[in-house]
Amino acid sequence: MSNKKLALITGASNGIGFELAKLFAKDDYDLLLVSRGQEKLEAAKKELAIFNVSITTFAADLSKYDDIIRLKAWVEQQGYIINALVLNAGQGYGGDFLQKTELARELELIRLNVDSYVHLSKLFIKDLVRRNEGSVLMTSSVSGTAPIPYEAVYGASKAFVNSFFYALRNEIKTTNIKMTLLMPGATETNFFKNADMAETKVGSMKKDDPAEVAYRGYYALMSGHEYAYGSDEVEYEGDVLNRIQSESQKAQRHRLISHPDSTLNK
Ligand SMILES: NC(=O)c1ccc[n+]([C@@H]2O[C@H](COP(=O)([O-])OP(=O)(O)OC[C@H]3O[C@@H](n4cnc5c(N)ncnc54)[C@H](OP(=O)(O)O)[C@@H]3O)[C@@H](O)[C@H]2O)c1
Repeated sequence: MSNKKLALITGASNGIGFELAKLFAKDDYDLLLVSRGQEKLEAAKKELAIFNVSITTFAADLSKYDDIIRLKAWVEQQGYIINALVLNAGQGYGGDFLQKTELARELELIRLNVDSYVHLSKLFIKDLVRRNEGSVLMTSSVSGTAPIPYEAVYGASKAFVNSFFYALRNEIKTTNIKMTLLMPGATETNFFKNADMAETKVGSMKKDDPAEVAYRGYYALMSGHEYAYGSDEVEYEGDVLNRIQSESQKAQRHRLISHPDSTLNK
């Protein structure tokens, strides 16, 4: 690493995280890219080599407590100072909760989408606060603002992230740390395929460009805004529809696009 600022980005080998990595690199941040697959990390590093910054990768399964401990110990051992922390690695999982989905996978999703955000925040934001400088971007979802049938556990995991984010942001409001919540809507990444949702209406419809979604989050972070959505339409969904409709109405609205057979109007 050089003497540039350093951004640690989780889920940086693909999708929104990868696009965020490009934006940090463009702004002259060195990068520490974290996700599970070492090969994918190396491919991402290769693509990012056009930027004149140092790039380091660390393979970790963030749904595992011990991998997070290993990551933190390694960062300390290397003497890295993290200036920007991007908690972005997350997974979806679709299907009928009582008839179809597997509990083991749902609990793993919670460990990644919920536990890892808490664990990484505890370990890394503490350091930012101690130095009283830096920024934190958390990728949540517009799904955090509504109940999400057929992605019930995923929606709840993102509602947790939203609540956790605002509470923490308030706790450190007297510091110089910037904190921004990014809430994408459906975005063109591997997300829906990996969530077994490629065949649903939401999985097969036209989605937002991950580069645009990342830009909105990055711009909000650098401007000190508390949150950003992935597009104007998603902003309308989160800030208008999801504030005026009841929880049941929001659930029904989502059911129409996330039902495993949502080509039918259920
Ligand atoms: N795409 C959407 O429609 C959408 C909408 C709203 C919110 N989001 C949120 O956006 C964030 C990024 O998702 P994306 O759409 O960019 O998905 P993606 O294209 O599937 O990328 C996910 C990234 O996270 C990594 N990852 C997955 N599981 C991991 C684990 N257990 N430990 C460490 N890294 C892991 C993946 O690499 P490896 O597989 O190699 O680990 C990959 O780099 C997530 O938090 C997601 O919930 C996405």
